[in-house]
Amino acid sequence: MDPLKNPFSPGAGNPPPELAGRDELLEQARIMLGRIKNGRYEQSLMLVGLRGVGKTVLLNRIHELAEAQGYGTVMVEATESRSLPELLIPALRQVLIKLDTLENVSSKVKLGLRVLRSFMGALKVKVSEVELGLDIDPQKGTADSGDLETDLAELFAALGEAAQDRKTAVAIIVDEIQYLSEAEMSALIMAIHRVSQRQLPLVLVGAGLPQLVGLAGRSKSYAERLFQYPEVGPLSKTDAMAALRDPVKKEGAAFAEDALKEIVGLTQGYPYFLQEWGYQAWNLAKKSPIDKSIVAHATAAAIKKLDQSFFRVRFDRLTPREKDYIRALADLGPGAHRSGDIADRLGVKVQSSAPLRSGLIRKGMIYSPAHGDTAFTVPLFDAFMLRTIPIWKKPKP
Ligand SMILES: Nc1ncnc2c1ncn2[C@@H]1O[C@H](COP(=O)(O)OP(=O)(O)O)[C@@H](O)[C@H]1O
Ligand SMILES: [Mg+2]
Repeated sequence: MDPLKNPFSPGAGNPPPELAGRDELLEQARIMLGRIKNGRYEQSLMLVGLRGVGKTVLLNRIHELAEAQGYGTVMVEATESRSLPELLIPALRQVLIKLDTLENVSSKVKLGLRVLRSFMGALKVKVSEVELGLDIDPQKGTADSGDLETDLAELFAALGEAAQDRKTAVAIIVDEIQYLSEAEMSALIMAIHRVSQRQLPLVLVGAGLPQLVGLAGRSKSYAERLFQYPEVGPLSKTDAMAALRDPVKKEGAAFAEDALKEIVGLTQGYPYFLQEWGYQAWNLAKKSPIDKSIVAHATAAAIKKLDQSFFRVRFDRLTPREKDYIRALADLGPGAHRSGDIADRLGVKVQSSAPLRSGLIRKGMIYSPAHGDTAFTVPLFDAFMLRTIPIWKKPKP
């Protein structure tokens, strides 16, 4: 059918035509934002889920909800290479400058800018063009100790006070939060703790892979009281059917019921895959309703595309030894497996494969669903590994 009218949108962070099954979570976020803005207590949100379940899409929606409530918002994405201050400084500067340009002068907002200036100076962050853009004297003695934990807490407090003075609130939204180091996560948690104790209108909304829960817990034991960790998972059968059916209906077309069921089964309800299958099925179908025979072709096309992009980019980032480790994991079949069993497949001792496993967790390839267990952070990655390396022999020790 006409590719110009194809409603599906496979791709990282692309808003889906139908945001299925997330109403409850968005309502929870809306209430949290409203309460914090009114100076009431509410736990911050950390969305937890595998790759391709729709975390970034949800963060974008929460960003919009915050803006609609008049929040000053920043949204940043953590990476393996950039430090937390490098991420936050340009974004927080923008928020403060926006608060500063509202009609009358606010001493609290000016103070916020000076504290940000101190924070930058003390951590010697190289954001040169930003430094030029922040033509203000530092606030000596605040946020300039050079210790991230102390300084970030002081910076967030100054930011919260500035927002309060402007009768608004600030939302700091951080995607891929599992990439923060333990020290950075610790500082972030501490800063949120301070701000919430003083009931300042500043909130953190994060999203990341399941390893973020352990990272937060190790960084600060009281993290579990500060945050809620809503799980973002595959869609239920009903929601997955709606995610396919409704966008097509809006274009005046339809799926045959058995075609819908087939796609939901093959994709296991994972949002990214639903978009990819829907997209291919639409383009391949000659007419509506899209029937089950089309799904077989769509599957071949979708898998080919995923193998070249979604799966491939992750695979290409691995060293040969890491590839062996995850190939051994894939060899054991879908789901989680004991670290000991993976080591067995590799023909090594568990202890000697432990650093390899930790490295893969840091890279965001695998996680530990329960102590001693290991699973992929990308759904259906085991099948991809078997397709990519069909014949595999244990590496020689
Ligand atoms: N609730 C949903 N219903 C249908 N499709 C969705 C939903 N949430 C996300 N998607 C689609 O899934 C894909 C991945 O979304 P993304 O937010 O990038 O996932 P993540 O950040 O968890 O890796 C995108 O193509 C998006 O359009
Ligand atoms: Mg994402």
